[in-house]
Amino acid sequence: MDLIRAMEERRSVRAFLDRPVEREKLERLLQLATRAPSAINLQPWEITVVFGEEKKRLSRVLVKRMRERNISCAPGARNRLPEVFLERQRGLLDVILPNLPDEASFEDFINEGSCNFYGAPSAVIIVIDEVFSSVRLTDIGILLGYLLLGAHAMGLGTCPIGLITAFDDDIRELLNIPDQKQVVIGVGMGYADPEDPVNRARSNRVPLGDVVKWRG
Ligand SMILES: Cc1cc2nc3c(=O)[nH]c(=O)nc-3n(C[C@H](O)[C@H](O)[C@H](O)COP(=O)(O)O)c2cc1C
Repeated sequence: MDLIRAMEERRSVRAFLDRPVEREKLERLLQLATRAPSAINLQPWEITVVFGEEKKRLSRVLVKRMRERNISCAPGARNRLPEVFLERQRGLLDVILPNLPDEASFEDFINEGSCNFYGAPSAVIIVIDEVFSSVRLTDIGILLGYLLLGAHAMGLGTCPIGLITAFDDDIRELLNIPDQKQVVIGVGMGYADPEDPVNRARSNRVPLGDVVKWRG
């Protein structure tokens, strides 16, 4: 698939088929994603791919912790943001909500769904060693972009999951990740369920003029 098309088409997938992703496909994708540039080629990322029973166990623990601690990433949860950003968050709600079953609450869908990686058969957990300063998160962001676009081009659906960073201790313990590694982001990865209406939601973007200035 051509890159421009992948950039146009990619979206966060929040319903997956119960079909494991082939190991060779994941390896190829990770080879491509780790071609991402990084400052002085530090390649500061460390990646754990979780699948099968381990992935189910991880999801169970995260959902349990989320319920115990009442943690949320749904729009409105961080309402200290300026109104302009709250409006963008509400825009996400507006495109997802009509595609949820009648009885589903948006908050529960996002929070439980995120902790379960929306039922994806694999979860990719990206961590960075604390020896690196926070500017190196830029490198992780680029890796993430490569991973999401590459996955889409290879026919895989993804959803980045920032909510899991609230449960970094549990993740480190379950996956045997040393304490000095910061959990930066998780990604649910699998084959998108083409029948599920939630995957039809396409998030909006603000007009370019709201975020780009030209000087010259
Ligand atoms: C760093 C980051 C963290 C995210 N965390 C979550 C999350 O915890 N749960 C979730 O459902 N979506 C999460 N998302 C997906 C965003 O909601 C999504 O990218 C955004 O609404 C734009 O939609 P699109 O990806 O379909 O273009 C995250 C995305 C990024 C880049």
